[in-house]
Amino acid sequence: MKRTVLVVDDEQNMQTVMRMVLENAGHEVLIADSGESALVHAQNPNLDVVLTDLRMPGMGGEEFVIRCRKERPDVPVIIVTAHGTIRSAVKSIHDGAADYLTKPFEPEQLEIVVHNAIKLRDILRENTRLKAEVNESRGTKRLVGEGRVAQQLLEEIRRVAPYKTGVLITGESGTGKELVARTIHELSPRRERPWVALNCSAIPRDLLESELFGYIKGAFTGATHNRAGRLEQAQGGTLFLDEIADLDASLQSKLLRVLQEREFSPVGSNQVRAVDVRFIAATNRELKALVQEGKFREDLLYRLDVYSIVAPPLRSRREDIPLLAQTFLQELAAETDKRVTAFTPAALEALAGYAWPGNVRELRNTVERSLLSCQGTTIDIGDLPGAIVAPSASAAGEKCKFEKKGKKNLDHWLEAMERDAILEALAQTRGVQTHAAKKLGISERSLWHRIKKLNIQINRVIY
Ligand SMILES: Nc1ncnc2c1ncn2[C@@H]1O[C@H](COP(=O)(O)OP(=O)(O)OP(=O)(O)O)[C@@H](O)[C@H]1O
Ligand SMILES: [Mg+2]
Repeated sequence: MKRTVLVVDDEQNMQTVMRMVLENAGHEVLIADSGESALVHAQNPNLDVVLTDLRMPGMGGEEFVIRCRKERPDVPVIIVTAHGTIRSAVKSIHDGAADYLTKPFEPEQLEIVVHNAIKLRDILRENTRLKAEVNESRGTKRLVGEGRVAQQLLEEIRRVAPYKTGVLITGESGTGKELVARTIHELSPRRERPWVALNCSAIPRDLLESELFGYIKGAFTGATHNRAGRLEQAQGGTLFLDEIADLDASLQSKLLRVLQEREFSPVGSNQVRAVDVRFIAATNRELKALVQEGKFREDLLYRLDVYSIVAPPLRSRREDIPLLAQTFLQELAAETDKRVTAFTPAALEALAGYAWPGNVRELRNTVERSLLSCQGTTIDIGDLPGAIVAPSASAAGEKCKFEKKGKKNLDHWLEAMERDAILEALAQTRGVQTHAAKKLGISERSLWHRIKKLNIQINRVIY
């Protein structure tokens, strides 16, 4: 298979030499003469290896390595450097570069480092695929719930699953919209065909069109191959469009065409292709209101919303909380070596009494955190985050927790409570401090001071 290697160097001679050697070795070569333009090439999904000079005008190689590693952790970067800059090469290795090559080099040396980097690339790609598979199998977990509300939801899913009908799933964040969509697919005649999910808010707007429709070779700089979009990947199966409210106006009309005509053209092509795809869309926004504000096309809403399903908030189906908590505990404990198997009745009572603004996702995260802090075999009220227990706990419960946590004095205990409340608010707002501060009823500045005082490592918090 032809591999794509990006060469970043401002010297024309070097570009020519590297292109010659690499093309001779059978690779596809892309050239960038600055870090800035190289970052554009770094978006290319076919990219396998990057070779970069360190000294370049504009963005230097060191900064490029850091940014490239951040955007494409799956693509190894090799530093190509003169003797004088070995020290910087070593620094770049610390910043994530895979290897370095000193100038001048023999063609064989270049071939060997690239060959090794390609091996690494294959391992990284396999790793990404396995991780995606693990995540996906997590996503295919059974919809848990035995209460009336959950059974009604399952009933609706069963009713609509057998048909090709478009479905719009609405509901608050974390209520299980994606799981509902996946269950519809699993219960449909398309279950053996592809399930493809696209989160419209997670992909930068200018890339979303080619992600959805694919592109043909030459459609834009870096489009060195034809590439199938998600629509084509979903052929015969189901395409799940998550966060549909984030589609911009131009993509809304292009999607409308697909829904009406059942055909599309990849970016850069005039050729029309037919699609047989079932569409399921989801949003936590009020699409009707967005239509009134002129931000969402009404005709698109009607095409998507042939059948509506509302994923209910967890507080409207509290009866399922113990079963959900127990299911998550089993799943999560199996992933660790902890032998925690149950909750105490007091802990279950606290879980059932909490408001769950972050819904099932928050419950799952809470179980995960409690599992980590639990020392025995049963999760007790003292292992739960403070924000869960605080609003509902009785004075006796609090005292019991105070003693249980073994806090030496009231200050320590208050600090632990403060930390739990902040961690919880950050988890619920996925780390957005403005929102977390609002939830806690304090100013953003005050939140910032408390985070510093308590030495909370924001990037270690699990969202
Ligand atoms: N009924 C359920 N049974 C088991 N797990 C559930 C249930 N509902 C949600 N979950 C789990 O809760 C988490 C959040 O669900 P999901 O991602 O489907 O929510 P969402 O509504 O799509 O959220 P968002 O709006 O934030 O994207 C997932 O881990 C999912 O597996
Ligand atoms: Mg979702």
